[in-house]
Amino acid sequence: MTREEFLKCQEGMDAQWPLPDYMQGVKGHTQYRDETYQIITRWTADTPIAYRPHAKSPGSKSHLRYEQYSKATTVGETLNFGSYPQDWCWDYERGFIKVLGGPIREEPLDISKGEDSQVTDVDRAINTWYQRELAKMLGMKVSYISASAGWGESVHIRALRLLAQKEAKECLEAADADGRAITDNELLLILKRWPFFRNPWRKNVMQPGKTWVFSDTLGLLRDRQGDVHLTAPTRRYPQVTELLARWLTDRLPKEVKSFKFTSMNVNCNYAASLHRDNGNFGPSFIKAFGDFSGGHLQYWPEDAGGDLKDLQSDGRITMDLQKNLSLFNGNCAHAVEDFNGSRYSIVYFTVGCHAAIEQEDREKLQRLGFPYPSADEDPFELMRPPRGKGGMGEAPAKAHGSCPAYRTFEASILHENCQRRPKSAEEVRKITEGRVQPENARSFYATDQRRIRKGYDTPAVSESSAKDDEANIEFY
Ligand SMILES: [Fe+2]
Repeated sequence: MTREEFLKCQEGMDAQWPLPDYMQGVKGHTQYRDETYQIITRWTADTPIAYRPHAKSPGSKSHLRYEQYSKATTVGETLNFGSYPQDWCWDYERGFIKVLGGPIREEPLDISKGEDSQVTDVDRAINTWYQRELAKMLGMKVSYISASAGWGESVHIRALRLLAQKEAKECLEAADADGRAITDNELLLILKRWPFFRNPWRKNVMQPGKTWVFSDTLGLLRDRQGDVHLTAPTRRYPQVTELLARWLTDRLPKEVKSFKFTSMNVNCNYAASLHRDNGNFGPSFIKAFGDFSGGHLQYWPEDAGGDLKDLQSDGRITMDLQKNLSLFNGNCAHAVEDFNGSRYSIVYFTVGCHAAIEQEDREKLQRLGFPYPSADEDPFELMRPPRGKGGMGEAPAKAHGSCPAYRTFEASILHENCQRRPKSAEEVRKITEGRVQPENARSFYATDQRRIRKGYDTPAVSESSAKDDEANIEFY
């Protein structure tokens, strides 16, 4: 192909093959964008694609390679024609590749869980390349990441969570230095980075036919054996937890300044079906983040129990969680409306068993910035109980308090409540040194530790391997 022929081919092509929206008109560099990684790592061998014809100028090696692999119509073909994931990133960020449909994965393939026969060459290529990229971002060896993964984490998940931990720590230090609240953008950065657990336990929020939701709990939780402890991600990624907690505590309006919480449910991209969160103590704060439309919270503030099917629509209010930070009673019926786009939500709440916490865990949570409730905390200090209007159960005894049944605050101005002042580099260094450190021991909350915490003198069985312990532990 001559230079003239090449130039002729380019006429009108930029309009037909635009850059992805998230590039905002700027072509990529070798440091690829997070969005690009998210897209490429979800491709499969059968994902149909089209290449912009003759996009690379003649006279270079990349032109010859491009002419070869751009004939591909699937990701599997382009790999066979000699292009690799790093080429896909480069070309995608320039608008040279269009994805024409599915299949596309909901999340990157965890190759360690795949059956060999189902893992394709494309899966292996993406897996190997992505692990190396993540290790590069972390400045760590793949072998370290792999060795320190555990608690149900694949190497990818471990690497992404380590990145979230690193970035959260940097955000906290920047906010300390500036004397300001954590911004919505910083929070969103961490939520987007965080790979969510496919949580099969929260059945009450699942839509019919679903068997899991993307949901993690940070802070305190009671596991299925009845043990009350900090969840594993809380201990392994403490600054992610600290940042999420601080986003709220720095914003609390004065009338709810005394709000306490032990735990945070962090949710990604699911519309919770109609449910009650039985066992929550006192009110919860809730806020949604991300680029989405819809997804309002439907809430029955006077619901005091009974069959969910009997709920009346006139007892329902609608909360816009994108605009507002809202205080509600999770024990009253609520549901999330359908939405389009990418939606994250955080629910700050107190577990019913909060008084049973170990002293060590309480101290750790307080160091992470949780305003922990006292054992005799009044659950109705900020919000009265439901009145059971509309025939929904019996009204509890304190049903006629002066507090409202819910509260809502415009979120965009709440950062003004932040009381921090700017800190010197020396002060920031001291705060950083004093932060809760990430833990990586496979032994915390293992079967033996659990027995000892519960007052047994001896380990349960002598051969409780780390693997068995992981299988036994439910920390979400
Ligand atoms: Fe809920």
